Amino acid sequence: MQISKLTAEEKLNLLVDFGMKVSNEIKLDALLDVVATQITKILNVGRCIIFLKDSETKELWSKIAQGKGVEQTEIRVPLNGKSEIALAANTGEIVNITNAYEDPRFYMGVDMVTDYRTKNLVAAPLKNNTGKVMGVFQVSNKNDGTPFDKKDEGILMLLSAMAAGAIEIARLYEDIHVSQLETIYRLAVTAEYRDQQDTRSHLKNISIISYLLALALGLDQKDAELIKNASPLHDIGKVALADNILLKPAKLTDTEYETMKSHTMYGGRILEGAHSKVLQAAHKISLCHHEKWDGTGYPNRLKGEQIPLEARIVSVADVFDALCMDRVYKAAWTPDEAFRHILEQSGKAFDPNVVEAFKIIFPSVRKIYRTKRPVTSTMAHHTLYNAVPLKEKN
Ligand code: C2E
Ligand code: SIN
Ligand code: SIN
Ligand code: FE
Repeated sequence: MQISKLTAEEKLNLLVDFGMKVSNEIKLDALLDVVATQITKILNVGRCIIFLKDSETKELWSKIAQGKGVEQTEIRVPLNGKSEIALAANTGEIVNITNAYEDPRFYMGVDMVTDYRTKNLVAAPLKNNTGKVMGVFQVSNKNDGTPFDKKDEGILMLLSAMAAGAIEIARLYEDIHVSQLETIYRLAVTAEYRDQQDTRSHLKNISIISYLLALALGLDQKDAELIKNASPLHDIGKVALADNILLKPAKLTDTEYETMKSHTMYGGRILEGAHSKVLQAAHKISLCHHEKWDGTGYPNRLKGEQIPLEARIVSVADVFDALCMDRVYKAAWTPDEAFRHILEQSGKAFDPNVVEAFKIIFPSVRKIYRTKRPVTSTMAHHTLYNAVPLKEKN
């Protein structure tokens, strides 16, 4: 199928199809993949490379490359060097080369590293709506052997403009997504900052374990990522606790422990009615991560599947991690001791399915904990007061 042989209607259909596929992709990587696939199809070419501008290194680099020889290799082309790619980026004009090896504008470097022989090519700048060049599309070697004509150029310009708009939107979404996750994470760190020296590794470990558990339980990638991103907020309610309880370097009295339990209610209130999916998951997790499968947990004594799955998952991750850490009120257990505790609590504190999943992931989890057994000097000092593991409660 070659574009110049298509009827006007067929061309329009391809463009509409392109527009729909492109506007359905919000993630930048997936979007560029779709763009490259569609362009390869519409123009019927052997190779399509999308270069993005890296302003820091002053290079164009191949974000997506489709076709023989290029898919595994990242190609970097200097912006101030001599190449048709830099030329298109710097002038903002389309560059059409009909006989590559006799054209002085052509840069042979890409062929050399990819074992490919370019016959003809078009490099089109990728401009946003203010005219700023974000990158370059390069297509080469039409499958019918003919050079690119004005019609092909026109099509590529049109596709570039559509794709540039979509890329800009995808970047904005990505920025928002990344800054949302960063904000959530920093909020979580704030909540744990007072009572734990090693907040970051603690939150990271819980997040990783929760993610692995979700995947082992067969949740899809998106839901697993939601739990991964929401789990650091499980103890956000601790911001409401007074220092004399949160920082007590010894066992809590029964009354103090009752107060401590309210961190779940505070967490629930802080995240109540959240709008975003990740904060909705965080709401369930912060409210329910101390509920127990057998109905003896807090704050609502929920039982079995009344407890949201997200919370059943994070509960295992949280307790495993807490056991492996030094706390002001107890010394760290070894990962194997903690593992035995998790198994022993199957059907009591924990959902048996989550415990089964934990068995599967434990070899990977063990590796994380073997490499670091953090004992800060403050912790070591506190554990002198109370170096015995907690006794089982009720
Ligand atoms: P945390 O220290 O992060 O512990 C989280 C959960 O891990 C605990 O929830 C408990 O289920 C489990 N866990 C931690 N250490 C042990 C242990 O030595 N043995 C057993 N069997 N389980 C353990 P829990 O009990 O609801 O406690 C919630 C939070 O309350 C704890 O978070 C900690 O911040 C605080 N806390 C609990 N007991 C004491 C205490 O005696 N002294 C102080 N200062 N804080 C305590
Ligand atoms: C306690 O009995 O005071 C400690 C409670 C616990 O975290 O298991
Ligand atoms: C933590 O403080 O590390 C988690 C404790 C909890 O889940 O209450
Ligand atoms: Fe908690």
